[in-house]
Amino acid sequence: MKITFLGHAALRIDTGSHQVVVDPFITGNPLAKEKISLDSLEPDYILLTHAHQDHVLDVEALAERSGATIISNFEIVSHYQAKGLKGHPMNHGGARDFDFGWLKYVHAVHTSSFADGTYGGQPGGFLLRAGGKQLYIAGDTALHMDMKLLPHYGNLDLAVLPIGDNFTMGVADAVLAADFVECSRVLGVHYDTFGYIVIDKKQAREAFAKAGKTLLLPEIGESLTL
Ligand code: NI
Ligand code: MN
Repeated sequence: MKITFLGHAALRIDTGSHQVVVDPFITGNPLAKEKISLDSLEPDYILLTHAHQDHVLDVEALAERSGATIISNFEIVSHYQAKGLKGHPMNHGGARDFDFGWLKYVHAVHTSSFADGTYGGQPGGFLLRAGGKQLYIAGDTALHMDMKLLPHYGNLDLAVLPIGDNFTMGVADAVLAADFVECSRVLGVHYDTFGYIVIDKKQAREAFAKAGKTLLLPEIGESLTL
């Protein structure tokens, strides 16, 4: 499984057989818009953790061109289906085998509304298993005790955790989250994009290292392979 950081909380996941894009926010991201071309993405599926603009801005353009199937909670998928886009609704605690792999929609503690204030269901995260690897995409979330349930569904090879603080967990809570989900390899997301979430990357790496964990902070456009 190859994972490419697209900036903010956006990821491109190549499973070997399929391309999955998570939370596409590229054209509105000052740090990513010059580095990532939306046209370079050809997703089969688009996973959305919640409806906030910094997670869904480019969904319509991307789904219209690629014909990708949008997977998210019922309210978000219904919103896009009403616009003629393809979708597959899930809800918390639900899991399903798709052709790209196994997916479970799990709890997040956050909010979820569209830019116009429309209800975007309850926010979530995903457990994704493909090609013998498993990852946790936390979405925007606070640290919460339900993260301790996740190891029950199998060992994680990577946890994608927000670390920018203010709107989500910060570094200290993300270190605890890595403990809760029993994963020592963390991909940090949701930092530096806006003034509210600028972090000291060196301090963040040191905090994880001190806890015996690795914090990966790839450049925008950089990939890692699991
Ligand atoms: Ni959010
Ligand atoms: Mn966000």
